[in-house]
Amino acid sequence: MRILSVVGARPQFVKLAPIAKAMEGSAEHLIVHTGQHYDEIMSDVFFRDLGIPAPDFNLGVGSGKHGAQTGAMLAGLEEIMESTAPDCVLVYGDTNSTLAAAIAATKLHLPVAHLEAGLRSFNRRMPEEHNRVLTDHSADLLLAPTEVAMQHLASEGLGARSVLVGDVMTDVLFKVRDSLMQVPQLMPAGMTKGEYYVCTIHRPDNTDSAERLRAIVAELAGLNKPVLLLAHPRLRSLAETHGIDLSQGAITLSDPLAYPDLINTVMNSAGVVTDSGGLQKEAFLLRVPCTTIRPETEWVETVELGWNALVSEDLSVLSKTVQRDAPQSTDASPYGDGKAANRTVAALLSNFGA
Ligand code: UD1
Repeated sequence: MRILSVVGARPQFVKLAPIAKAMEGSAEHLIVHTGQHYDEIMSDVFFRDLGIPAPDFNLGVGSGKHGAQTGAMLAGLEEIMESTAPDCVLVYGDTNSTLAAAIAATKLHLPVAHLEAGLRSFNRRMPEEHNRVLTDHSADLLLAPTEVAMQHLASEGLGARSVLVGDVMTDVLFKVRDSLMQVPQLMPAGMTKGEYYVCTIHRPDNTDSAERLRAIVAELAGLNKPVLLLAHPRLRSLAETHGIDLSQGAITLSDPLAYPDLINTVMNSAGVVTDSGGLQKEAFLLRVPCTTIRPETEWVETVELGWNALVSEDLSVLSKTVQRDAPQSTDASPYGDGKAANRTVAALLSNFGA
């Protein structure tokens, strides 16, 4: 059986790592990189550190407006899908690369499987929400990470095509965490164990307006511990456009980190402040309190269990929220047991294998 994986952005490389491993010896696995992310630190480093085979194809699409970027991917993917004739196209998460691959495959009558199906923020301002909904409704097999995602799929009439496999990001995280435990842990430069916060901000709703970004940066600058701000290229370029200095007060500015370094940095921190989906969950899995600068989250379990708190409209509560007492400990595991990739490959083989 031949499976074609399509990835393009940073969180998809993380999801691809355990899938590529689980495919070994079970299926012929081809990888397409759309080139949505292309910097060394946004792309190459993940393939290297997580032992992912080099992509068989790279479309080199790069950055652009939604339509231009997605359209360029569609054209390139169609050629590759026609020439490779896979038995199934596997798409990951909720980026423009996900949607482009789902549309290209659907138009060619190739079966589509969507990994991380059924997540919903119900916020139609987010490009990821459009990508999720459209991808789920065009896919033939919906691989859901959580019970809540299964419920969303059922309520949209997609229950018969859905399978609960668990969250593949848990697979990677457990593996990397366990290997980090075997070696002495290095602190980020200038930081003391348990005495700093880790922060990432990149969503358009938080970065595109100068007023909003200025207010967020001012709140971060006033926190009671050093804030290691891991700056996504979008954040850096918009801060420059808006004339906002990111290195204010408590903030120490850093480039994004490679995945093992990120996990190490979060594990040893006092808390996370973010608008990333993946990082909220990684903080929970490492049992580090998280504050999410968004009005809602797809990973509702992190909030229900007390490890994640949302701050959106009223930024004046950010410092109080970040500096809150540690939540009650829990052994709940809503994101699975670290074996989601094996279940995913088994589901692909049983649905699309000869
Ligand atoms: C994309 C995903 C988002 C995901 C995020 C992870 C969509 C709609 N969004 O958002 O769901 O959480 O990736 O990072 O697909 N840039 C670089 N170098 C790179 C990549 C991007 O400089 O390697 C800059 C460019 O200026 C680009 C901007 O970052 O315009 C935004 O990149 P883009 O891929 O469009 O969206 P992300 O914000 O990264």
